[in-house]
Amino acid sequence: MARIYLDNAATTSLDPRVLEAMMPYLTEKFGNPSSIYSYGRESRLAIENARKSVAKILGAHPAEIFFTSGGTESSNTAICASVRDLGCRHIISSPIEHHATTHTVEYLSHNGEAALSYVKIKPDGHIDLSHLEILLKKSTEKCLVSLMHANNEIGNLLDMHSVGELCKKHNAIFHSDTVQTVGHYPFDLRNTPVHFITGAGHKFHGPKGVGILYINENVQIKPMIHGGSQERNMRAGTENLYGIVGFAKALELATDSYDEDRMYITVLKKYMAEQLEQNIEGVHFNGDVFGDSLYAVLNVSFPKTEKSEMILFNLDINGICASGGSACTSGVDMGSHVIRHINNNPNLVAVRFSFSRHNTKEEIDLVVEKLKRMI
Ligand SMILES: Cc1ncc(COP(=O)(O)O)c(C=O)c1O
Repeated sequence: MARIYLDNAATTSLDPRVLEAMMPYLTEKFGNPSSIYSYGRESRLAIENARKSVAKILGAHPAEIFFTSGGTESSNTAICASVRDLGCRHIISSPIEHHATTHTVEYLSHNGEAALSYVKIKPDGHIDLSHLEILLKKSTEKCLVSLMHANNEIGNLLDMHSVGELCKKHNAIFHSDTVQTVGHYPFDLRNTPVHFITGAGHKFHGPKGVGILYINENVQIKPMIHGGSQERNMRAGTENLYGIVGFAKALELATDSYDEDRMYITVLKKYMAEQLEQNIEGVHFNGDVFGDSLYAVLNVSFPKTEKSEMILFNLDINGICASGGSACTSGVDMGSHVIRHINNNPNLVAVRFSFSRHNTKEEIDLVVEKLKRMI
């Protein structure tokens, strides 16, 4: 049975052109980038070229790009360093962030290292910016604002510029988890008021286990991992050479086809929404689906019945990959903290479908047909 993969917000397939770019560094070009002889210098050059390419695409300086193991490490680093090194004693975040953020800010708060406030979420899943401003105004401590650019479950997009300007006005540090948007939208970091952003290669057809942390040149943090002098003394340990090469290649390819992919995937998302509405009674979409929303994510609630409660399981039996919450929680079916927050209706079952350029209308037709029978 051919599988239909509609979980591209969890991870994406590796582009064969990315694998091709990585292969030499998995085989003959194996030198340690810190070695001074030619093998090492070749590897070092590959890393620094990757950094330059990523920086150029994001409108940043190469010295502002640090390679990490992915989105989780990047957000942990940004948040912990803001408290430890930048004097932030009050964190303002939202209850619908990815766990990489939520669990980190809760840890710091439980440990007594920073106070924690959650900004209000509107019914459509957007951040209440006037409440954010009130929280910033009222704070007697320096704040870290940690708000994600695109929500990985419902797709809602944050107005990063407005949040950044508010942070500037109140002398706050701004971290944004951009894991769902790097590789999907153009960035111009030189003209974006943000201190930290993050990225993960596997969300845009690159390899898993490699990501970036952008640290604005105006903030200075201390190393998170101690040891060698890799990543300009910020992250010790021999670099993930082939991963870094793959990350840069995937970002270059994504950049070349941003517009084309966005147009194609937007049509698919709309098509699926229409087909669901026409064929299944009582479907309902979560978030600002056709407004400020990531074009690759469609979060659907189905009326709860004995059958729909088993929907993910039944989709899986039918070879269809979709998820209930984020990938890390769908293994243990705890439901979604995001859906619970914006739509606490026990009579609905939410499923996230997320698309890539490899999906087709025929696949959507098949999925809708199966869903119709399932529900
Ligand atoms: C919004 C968001 N933040 C962070 C992460 C974590 O990224 P990674 O799995 O690369 O650590 C993910 C992906 O799982 C995500 O979707």
